[in-house]
Amino acid sequence: MPIKKYVLPVAGLGTRFLPATKAIPKEMLPIVDKPLIQYVVEEAVEAGATEIILVTHPSKRALEDHFDINVELERTLEKKGKTQLLERVRTILPENIRVAAVRQHEPLGLGHAVLCAKELVGNEPFGVILPDVLIHHPQRGCMAQMMKVYQQLGHSIIAVEPVAHDQVDKYGIVSLEAGGEEGLRQLSGIVEKPTPENAPSNLSVVGRYILPPRVMQLLEQTTPGSGGEIQLTDAIAALIQEEPVYAYTFEGTSYDCGNKQGFLRANIDYGLRDPETREGLLQQMSVQSHSPDR
Ligand code: UTP
Repeated sequence: MPIKKYVLPVAGLGTRFLPATKAIPKEMLPIVDKPLIQYVVEEAVEAGATEIILVTHPSKRALEDHFDINVELERTLEKKGKTQLLERVRTILPENIRVAAVRQHEPLGLGHAVLCAKELVGNEPFGVILPDVLIHHPQRGCMAQMMKVYQQLGHSIIAVEPVAHDQVDKYGIVSLEAGGEEGLRQLSGIVEKPTPENAPSNLSVVGRYILPPRVMQLLEQTTPGSGGEIQLTDAIAALIQEEPVYAYTFEGTSYDCGNKQGFLRANIDYGLRDPETREGLLQQMSVQSHSPDR
């Protein structure tokens, strides 16, 4: 059975992008001409999602509005004969996809955000995607890759990738059981933001999860951990005591758009992949490489 429900936590403060994120949610920042949130919704839909659950904050209405109909805008585009743009605006959300929103009133951590979706998720396995991590693959998105593996395996899966050893304190880091398939190994442990000396490996969690409903109960029992936040990582650490969880090394390029460098890198790479912007961008970049102060 494909996973139908995907939880997208978008209630964080986005402090690393202040002042840009004072009035605009971080997840609405654009990569070329689409906001981050739209990329991950498309990734979920490609993987078979029919219900997107936004865990959001009252100050972040723009996210819900993005997936709602804007009658006035559509009428204006229609009148002006801007049919291509009209089509793009109308198809932001495919017809059979429902977007539900639940509020996280205080940003108490990713684990707490996921727990806020408990009632909407109900008693079925679900996906989680962090919208500030984009993963590009020309043929098959990361979540669709994970779904394929999940359908064969029937166990929880977490996407991972190697990071530089001195960067491990920024991520959830996993340790793996010996043996198993290359790129798909059972987790033996997981820890949030370890120091490089204490890190069990350099394999980081990249913000794509397929989890069982049981994880919600484990989250209810999870006390604040790293950074004083309720960590999804800690609930997964409890889950692996009860059942197998697999780490999947995905194919594709990841962009951590939660930090400035990753966000800028994503804009350049996606801009170079887009036929509309590629040539102009290359020209701009060659001009600028000759005059770095511009
Ligand atoms: P981050 O920790 O990267 O986002 O969480 P943040 O807290 O908004 O960013 P900084 O560190 O202050 O710059 C990853 C995702 O989880 C959501 C965020 O909105 C982001 O999409 N999140 C995080 C929540 O929904 N609730 C939380 O309590 C924490």
